[in-house]
Amino acid sequence: MSKAALALLITGGTENWAPARWRARFKRLCPDRSVALVPDDAIDPSLVRYAAVWKPQPGALLLYPNLAVIFNLGAGVDAVLADATLPAVPLVRVAVGDLTQRMTEYVVMHVLMHHRRQAYYAESQRWRVWAPKLQWAARDLRVGVMGIGVLGRDAAQVLARLGFDVAGWSATEKSIPGVACFAGERQLGDFLARTDVLVCLLPLTPQTRGILNRKLFAQLARDGKLGGPVIINAGRGGLQVEADILSCLDDGTLCAATLDVFATEPLPPDSPLWSHPKLTLSPHNAADTDADDISVYVAEQIAAFERGEKLANVVDRNTGY
Ligand code: NDP
Ligand code: OXD
Repeated sequence: MSKAALALLITGGTENWAPARWRARFKRLCPDRSVALVPDDAIDPSLVRYAAVWKPQPGALLLYPNLAVIFNLGAGVDAVLADATLPAVPLVRVAVGDLTQRMTEYVVMHVLMHHRRQAYYAESQRWRVWAPKLQWAARDLRVGVMGIGVLGRDAAQVLARLGFDVAGWSATEKSIPGVACFAGERQLGDFLARTDVLVCLLPLTPQTRGILNRKLFAQLARDGKLGGPVIINAGRGGLQVEADILSCLDDGTLCAATLDVFATEPLPPDSPLWSHPKLTLSPHNAADTDADDISVYVAEQIAAFERGEKLANVVDRNTGY
């Protein structure tokens, strides 16, 4: 007898994320299970026990009366949870080594670009100017990582290994070797006051929406090596107040910013963010994870669930991550 069916509700993004490719991956990994790419493939909705989703239409999952688990194909679940009709079954998010490694690469690359003043040297090269500047040590730069979960913890540890003076901030108390840990509203001020480069890897929840705003930026250290605070946001666009970022870059409250995520994606062509000289942008691809790894992760979780084992990385609907 065929095993319980898996429905794929996927809105395509990059080439690697094309819905038909996901269908091929899951058919290969789950040969004895019906795999249906919705809406292209016909399937009896009552047979569907699992749904793997990426940006599904609100209400789309209501069609499956016997749904047991929803697998979000990304780490962030804010968009899925925004659907008030989402069935009350476990929602599993992605946490795979490939994603974590790619995010750490992104964070480390941008921290290093600021630390080693890459923008200055690129400009010098453009004008054929040979003018090296004094370079301080990594230990002289204080990096603060907001959100030290799966992604933030790894980035913080790698930065610490490179010699940076690293701190992390989370909702609950943590202990990470080599990283000064701060937690909750009560310790946010102290965390910000010792931060030259602020890396944001928070999830977007009602508590964190708009947290990257002028009031917060004004609390960052102003006596650091970079001449002013720098922010790097690869969490979600909804975490940042974009008008505040622009005005803080203009008046010197911030010295530079790197953004991978935006309130509106794709970033509209007329957005002033594109052309600000102190901004470095990327198109939400800080961690464009290997889709093969994600499909193996989902297929393995389904197999474990059917053996009666606990699902991993289940989202807490109360906290929203
Ligand atoms: P986790 O759930 O593992 O970690 C979230 C961290 O944020 C935890 O340390 C948590 O604290 C902390 N946190 C949550 N709410 C608060 C709060 N109100 N105050 C203080 N700390 C808080 O998530 P991941 O590390 O896996 O992913 C983080 C986010 O990165 C995703 O939600 C997604 O938005 C984004 N992302 C972006 C990608 C990109 O390409 N740009 C790719 C993948 C993810 P505690 O541990 O105490 O609960
Ligand atoms: C994710 C993302 O959440 O790509 O995985 O942002």
